[in-house]
Amino acid sequence: METNPSAVINEQKKNEKSMVVNTLRAFNFRNFNNVEIDFCDSVNIIKGMNAQGKTNLLESILLSLSAKSHRESNYRNFIGQYADSASVYLNGVDIDGLDFEVEASFSEEKSLSINGRTIRRRSELGSMFSFIFFGPDELSIIKGAPYQRRAFLDEAVSKLTPEYSLLLGSYTKALRQRNAFLKEYNIKPSEEMLGVYDLALAEYGSKVLKQRIRFLKEFLPFLKEGYAEIASSAEKISVNYYTDTAVFDDSYKEKYLSLLKQSRKEDLFYKTTKYGIHHDDFIVFLDGRQARQFASQGQQRSVAVCLKVSMIKLIKQIRGCDTVVLLDDIMSELDSVRQKNLLKLLCGMQTFITCVDDSFAANISDKNVYSVKNANVKRI
Ligand SMILES: Nc1ncnc2c1ncn2[C@@H]1O[C@H](COP(=O)(O)OP(=O)(O)OP(=O)(O)O)[C@@H](O)[C@H]1O
Ligand SMILES: [Mg+2]
Repeated sequence: METNPSAVINEQKKNEKSMVVNTLRAFNFRNFNNVEIDFCDSVNIIKGMNAQGKTNLLESILLSLSAKSHRESNYRNFIGQYADSASVYLNGVDIDGLDFEVEASFSEEKSLSINGRTIRRRSELGSMFSFIFFGPDELSIIKGAPYQRRAFLDEAVSKLTPEYSLLLGSYTKALRQRNAFLKEYNIKPSEEMLGVYDLALAEYGSKVLKQRIRFLKEFLPFLKEGYAEIASSAEKISVNYYTDTAVFDDSYKEKYLSLLKQSRKEDLFYKTTKYGIHHDDFIVFLDGRQARQFASQGQQRSVAVCLKVSMIKLIKQIRGCDTVVLLDDIMSELDSVRQKNLLKLLCGMQTFITCVDDSFAANISDKNVYSVKNANVKRI
C-alpha cells in the first residue's frame, strides 16, 4: 500500500501537538478569482513581482486564523472588484493536534466558521491556533505611537493567555462608558455614577496591568536570547514599561482607584479619562539607549522582528505548541547575516515568506516555492 506523505506528516504533527496549515482555497478574495494551494509543513516561499497577490495570499491565511486582517477592518474591501461575495477556506491541524477546517465568507455580512460551527468571539480562535505575523508596518512597534506598542503587547499577552482579550475588552468598554458619561454632561455629573465606572476601571485595569508586567518579565530572557541570535552582536537589549498607575504590588486595585479619584477634577474639565493603562507604553533599549531614537534602520527592523519571533519560544514553553510564522516582505530589509540567523531561528516551524527575490532561501533544502503572477499561484 502506498503511503501518503502528507498524512504521515500530519500524524507526526499530531503526536508533537503542533499546528500546521495544509490547504488554502480562496474565491473572489481581493485579486484572486479562484485559487487552491497545498502547503508544506516547513518553509513556504511565496514569490512574485509587485502587486501580484503575495500579501493578499498571506492576508487570507491570517484572516482564517484570527478573523482579523493586518491591513483593515472593512471586510467589504476583501471582495474582488467585480464580485458580490468572497470566501476563504483553510484546513490543517490545530495546536491540540485536531484537524480543523475554517470557512470565512464576506458578502453583505461576514461570517467565520470552524468545523461547521460559527465563531462569535475572536478569543475562541486564540485557544485553537498559534501564529505570528510580521509585515512591513511592524516597524511601528519601535518607531510608532504608544498605542501601536500597546497593540503589540496586548496581542502578545492574548497569545499566551486567551482570556486576556476578554479582560481588555471589559476595560475598554468601561473606559468608553466613563468617557461618554464625562462628555454627556455640561453640569457636574453624579459622583456616584463616576464611582461605579472608577470601580470597573480599577478592577479591570489593575488586572490588565498585572498581566502585562508579568508577561514582560517572562518575555525578556527570550527577547535577549532572540536578539543575540538574530543580530549576532553583543548589544544588550532591554525593555521598560511606563505607566501612570505605577503600582506593582498587591494593592494594585486600591492605588488605581485612588489615582482615578485624584484626577477626577481634571477628567471633568477635559471630559476624558486622563490616567490609566490606556496611556501606558513600553520602550526598547539597545545598550541602554532608546532604540527608536538611536538605533539604525536595520537595527530597528531587527528589534521589531525579534520582538515578534521571540514570542515563538515563549509560546512553546507556556502553551507547549509550535507557532505558524507568516512573514510579509521582510527579508529584503535585513542583511544576509541577519537573514540567515532569522531562518535558523525559525527552523522547524511552518513558515510562509513572501518576497520579490528568493535568493536568501538558496540554501534551504526543505521548502516549497510558489510563484504568484497576476493572481495565479503555481508551485515551482
Ligand atoms: N478587493 C480587491 N479586488 C481586486 N483587487 C484587489 C482588491 N484589493 C486589493 N487588490 C489588488 O491586489 C493586487 C495585489 O496586492 P498585494 O498587496 O497582494 O500585492 P503584492 O504581491 O504583495 O505586492 P508587493 O510586492 O508590492 O507587496 C494589488 O494590485 C491590489 O490593488
Ligand atoms: Mg505585498
